[in-house]
Amino acid sequence: MRSFALLSISAALPLIWGLNVPQTYINTAIARTIELGGLTTQVTTQYNIKPTDNNPGEYFLALAGEKDELPAWWEVSLGGKKLEGRLVDDISPTVAIDLGTTKKDQVITLSLNQVLAHTSKPLPSEIEQKDPQYLSWKSNSTYVDSWYTTDVERVKIRAPHPSILSASSVPETYTRDNTLTKSGGTITLGPFHSLPPTLISNGGSQKKVEQHPFSVHYETKDPVIGIRTLKRAAEVSHWGANLNIQDEIDLVNEGPKLKGHFSRLAHQQSKFHAHVPAQILTELTLKLPPTSHSTYYYDTIGNVSTSHFRQGSTPATKKQPKGVKTSPRIVDGTLELKPRYPLLGGWNYSFTIGWDTPLGDVLKTDEKDGKRILAVPFITALKDVVVDQAELLVILPEGASDVQVYTPFPVDSIEHSIHKTYLDTTGRYAITLKKTKLTENHAQNVYVTYHYPLSAQFQKPITIASLVGSLFLLGMGLRRVNYSIDRK
Ligand SMILES: *[C@@H]1O[C@H](CO)[C@@H](O)[C@H](O)[C@H]1NC(C)=O
Ligand SMILES: *[C@@H]1O[C@H](CO)[C@@H](O)[C@H](O)[C@H]1NC(C)=O
Ligand SMILES: *[C@@H]1O[C@H](CO)[C@@H](O)[C@H](O)[C@H]1NC(C)=O
Repeated sequence: MRSFALLSISAALPLIWGLNVPQTYINTAIARTIELGGLTTQVTTQYNIKPTDNNPGEYFLALAGEKDELPAWWEVSLGGKKLEGRLVDDISPTVAIDLGTTKKDQVITLSLNQVLAHTSKPLPSEIEQKDPQYLSWKSNSTYVDSWYTTDVERVKIRAPHPSILSASSVPETYTRDNTLTKSGGTITLGPFHSLPPTLISNGGSQKKVEQHPFSVHYETKDPVIGIRTLKRAAEVSHWGANLNIQDEIDLVNEGPKLKGHFSRLAHQQSKFHAHVPAQILTELTLKLPPTSHSTYYYDTIGNVSTSHFRQGSTPATKKQPKGVKTSPRIVDGTLELKPRYPLLGGWNYSFTIGWDTPLGDVLKTDEKDGKRILAVPFITALKDVVVDQAELLVILPEGASDVQVYTPFPVDSIEHSIHKTYLDTTGRYAITLKKTKLTENHAQNVYVTYHYPLSAQFQKPITIASLVGSLFLLGMGLRRVNYSIDRK
């Protein structure tokens, strides 16, 4: 299913009118590199494009082929600078890019970075504990999808290891000498010459290339790890000058399922010989912000003691006494998590981790209007991991008002609510953000701005003081009763 919850009206219009792509550009060269992984596929493509007209208008960059899904992540840049584009979704997901004033025959180089999620599946889907792990990667496209003619194009597919069991073949129609070459873990398709567009606009009569699906069957020596759901709660305390982040994580080993029974003895022996089979996850390392501290890690049974936290560091900003050496650069904290049991293919593990960060590192005050600006990371980056469903709950202190949320990418929903806990009088402002299909590229900050009046700063101490006061009174009352009973 495609979801474009945050699309503007302008992007929705072509759905009604049909996308019309004038043939005012040609691709002089396209070079694509596809890096196969576990759950994600990294695709980088360079387009050398050339206007065939002095007023070429927008360039329509296809992100995928006909009826394909929008990639989990994509970014277009020109000379290293990120370009904004208008997302249109008529036949295939496409970005319309305004290149400003361009002249006929002026060559422009565009770069497209994409991350695809869940494009590789275990094959076979069940293996024995000691067997190697193979995945099958499938794409609907052999050629790079485009609305324009391409002079020359080549596609490189890199597998993580040279052990590639098989790959699809390539039609000879647009090739001259090579159709497919394999060298180590790299497969090269083409080069293709004088390739017509793979996509044509409504009513277009030009020649079109039929796409062919392409698949690669390859070995991977890392566990294929996915997160089904991630629930992050970020709680701000002005009173404690703290931001607490807590993650509830449902981890799944998406590699081939274990055939037969798990043998702990075989696992211990493989650990002893340092040959733990690729598909077994025994440890996971998370990078935390440099100043984070007070980490914790527990699962349904209780605290997990087999974990290790190394605090990071930041360059000292204050003057240090002579002779004290400070780290010259920022070092992230690292949290090494060992699940309670080794995670085999098809197994899952649910746990909770949390840590504190000094509020001063993530909260700034706008000097002009006193507005607070809070930065909260949506997720923590994990290489090659896809988070199927993420929820971020940001809990602001009592008294926060005029709340606004800025997200670095479109999310599926943003909800504002009031969160009430013990010791709260009016309740705290909370925001819940939800998004499906996140990759390590989505590990970016969400910004929340709010007003926090000085009077709110005293709300908590007053509540605590009055509570202590009433306990005191209650205590006195009890003593008086006891006393009177004693006397009888
Ligand atoms: C490939 O095509 C099928 C059928 O149209 C579609 O269901 C699937 O989502 C496509 N794959 C991708 C990655 O878009
Ligand atoms: C878990 O660890 C925390 C601190 O590390 C401690 O306060 C808590 O009592 C522990 N809980 C159990 C059940 O051991
Ligand atoms: C995986 O999680 C589901 C619930 O999400 C649970 O029913 C199932 O027992 C779990 N499987 C394993 C092997 O832990």
